[in-house]
Amino acid sequence: MRRAVCPGSFDPITNGHLDIISRASKLFDEVVVAVGVNKSKNRLFSAEERMQMLRDVCDGYGNVQVDGFDGLLTSFCAERGIHAIVKGLRAVSDFDYELQMAQMNASLADVETVFVPTSPEYSFLASSLVKEVATFGGDVSGLVPPLVHELLVERLAANAEAEGR
Ligand code: PNS
Repeated sequence: MRRAVCPGSFDPITNGHLDIISRASKLFDEVVVAVGVNKSKNRLFSAEERMQMLRDVCDGYGNVQVDGFDGLLTSFCAERGIHAIVKGLRAVSDFDYELQMAQMNASLADVETVFVPTSPEYSFLASSLVKEVATFGGDVSGLVPPLVHELLVERLAANAEAEGR
């Protein structure tokens, strides 16, 4: 059984993430989308909310499951018998850091990192940019799945109201 993990923060999932997950699901028998639940980071959506959004948007893929992980990704892989990590590469600028992480992860456990080039139409996409644009009223409806867009707009409006903006 060829099993892989697609790790990330997914705050929130974008169409770029979904493209990588979908392509990984064709390359591997089983794909676990692993949401980093590190509590120290300031997130727009809670780990549970991010996992639920992923479950909803990945529902159509029979071989994709969603889980959370805390601590080292390699520990999660070892616990699950996973030996492949799938990462999307948007541009050369992603490569330096991703290569460093891939090599560190390979030194920690029996895991290979498989880099999948991001589809050109998503090469500028990042959750952080999507949130920034949406915060200032920009239209991000084409950049995230519809249900994520709905939740994003709702959450940003609630935050703005709470902050008296
Ligand atoms: O979506 P992101 O924020 O780019 O995801 C980064 C993530 C969660 C994949 C990465 O930070 C990670 O693997 N964190 C787990 C902690 C860990 O294993 N650190 C050592 C990496 S070499």
